[in-house]
Amino acid sequence: MSEKLYLYPLWLRLWHGLNALFFLTLLVTGISMQYSDIDFPLVRFDLAVTGHNIAGIGITLSYFMFITGNLFTSNGRQYRINIRSLFSDLLAQGRYYLFGIFSKQIPPFPVTLKSKFNPLQRVSYIGAMYVLFPIVAITGWALLFPETIARQAFGYSGTLLTALLHIVMGFFMSIFMIVHVYMCTVGKTPLSNFKSMINGYHEAH
Ligand code: HEM
Repeated sequence: MSEKLYLYPLWLRLWHGLNALFFLTLLVTGISMQYSDIDFPLVRFDLAVTGHNIAGIGITLSYFMFITGNLFTSNGRQYRINIRSLFSDLLAQGRYYLFGIFSKQIPPFPVTLKSKFNPLQRVSYIGAMYVLFPIVAITGWALLFPETIARQAFGYSGTLLTALLHIVMGFFMSIFMIVHVYMCTVGKTPLSNFKSMINGYHEAH
């Protein structure tokens, strides 16, 4: 019989659901504005702009839920890394994903209540939530209030540089999400991690 661990409290599941919904809206409306073609718009331009602005405000508000939850509950401890062993831990997890997983070896970092993420998850979640996300959000808010952006920086238009940073980091976030959703299929069954994000319980192998 498989063991069940309660790893995703309600506030975290709520945040994650809102975050995924807003993120997908931002992705579709963002791509639609980037490649806008009057004759064949993915989403009508004015609707894409409004949708992008609303989802941007929504995802920022829900980000405060994530930060507050991680500051005031034990979930925040899951985002601490041990710098000294980081390199060897990443190598061990990488080796497992490349080889061990196919020969049904025991994972080097089994899921426990104290440590639910493996080192690769930990680093990628920290990178996405504490590095990429703030850059995309800050540049997004600056573009919403362009009068706050410096006119010129390094001889280029400040708005152009801000928009470029927003788009490039948004692109990396989108890559993160695609890899993230794919890696979530690596569970007890391909769907079990998705069920965990609905009922809160992780099913161990
Ligand atoms: C439709 C899109 C998405 C799906 C289906 C999805 C699915 C999942 C699943 C199944 C988990 C639990 C497994 C695990 O611990 O890794 C999870 C956790 C997580 N996801 Fe997503 N995700 C999506 C979008 C996103 C996006 C856009 C972000 C970030 C911007 C994100 C960030 C996270 C984080 C940080 C966790 C760990 C939360 C915690 O336990 O503290 N996800 N996701």
